[in-house]
Amino acid sequence: MRQLFPVTDQTPHVEGAEPGESGRWSLDELAEAYAYPDTDGPWLRANMVSSLDGAGQHDGRSHPLSSDTDMRIFGTLRALADVVVVGAETVRLEGYRPAKARSEFAERRKAAGQGPAPAIAVVTASLDLDFSLPLFTSPLVPTLILTGAAADPDRVREAERAGAEVLVAGDGPGVEPDRAVGALADRGHLRLLTEGGPRLLGQFVAAGVLDELCLTVSPMLTAGDAQRIAGGPAVGVPQRFTPTSVLEDAGFLFTRYRRN
Ligand SMILES: NC(=O)c1ccc[n+]([C@@H]2O[C@H](COP(=O)([O-])OP(=O)(O)OC[C@H]3O[C@@H](n4cnc5c(N)ncnc54)[C@H](OP(=O)(O)O)[C@@H]3O)[C@@H](O)[C@H]2O)c1
Repeated sequence: MRQLFPVTDQTPHVEGAEPGESGRWSLDELAEAYAYPDTDGPWLRANMVSSLDGAGQHDGRSHPLSSDTDMRIFGTLRALADVVVVGAETVRLEGYRPAKARSEFAERRKAAGQGPAPAIAVVTASLDLDFSLPLFTSPLVPTLILTGAAADPDRVREAERAGAEVLVAGDGPGVEPDRAVGALADRGHLRLLTEGGPRLLGQFVAAGVLDELCLTVSPMLTAGDAQRIAGGPAVGVPQRFTPTSVLEDAGFLFTRYRRN
């Protein structure tokens, strides 16, 4: 893997490579590169993958657009996060499982005051989720459900019976993005990672609460009418983000942008 931006004349990441060659970055090197900034408040980062022509999924999943290195970065970003926020449709379509405790990151998480694995927080109005799945019944840390005050109380009880913790972050059936961030921060979750999907990410963007986007640009064309990485109503004025790093591996670009 090579760092294309910021431009550097060093090749520090040479696991198994000759000097001057780009090698595979170790998980430690990736964790350093993607460290959360030091901030007092919450920091919401998104991690998404897109084809060259803007598709955020193929055949209903993002995996066909991904690569081994993308999955290593995906795992690293999870390992750095306090909580992974995800829309219910992605949970349903991608069969989300609880986050794992990974020995490679154990020391780093302990030093950062984090538990062994991030919690998964599912954003849902309907609570139409299969609460018998391991995501709810056997996570290392209880799975959170973010929903609105008008959510169906029977579904809320079912979620709680399964072991999930339900957080209300909206007055109606739905979640208000800024209140979701606030509710997670109130629980001490400041290093936030959202893995989408596009409908959820679009709302974080529109609400102006997305601080950072880690976008993998996959060297693939898909055509078709797949969703882009952020959907929903357009914002009034396009929001400007600043690139902070670009890495390359096997034709995949791992870009990172921060809100201006
Ligand atoms: N390219 C990528 O990196 C990437 C990442 C993730 C997912 N994906 C792909 O994206 C597709 C799914 O994404 P999607 O955009 O259709 O769905 P999504 O954003 O994952 O989930 C949408 C669902 O989340 C809940 N939700 C969203 N906003 C809410 C709010 N404000 N309040 C309450 N609930 C809210 C609703 O759940 P309820 O219906 O339960 O109320 C809604 O139906 C899949 O094909 C997946 O593979 C791609």
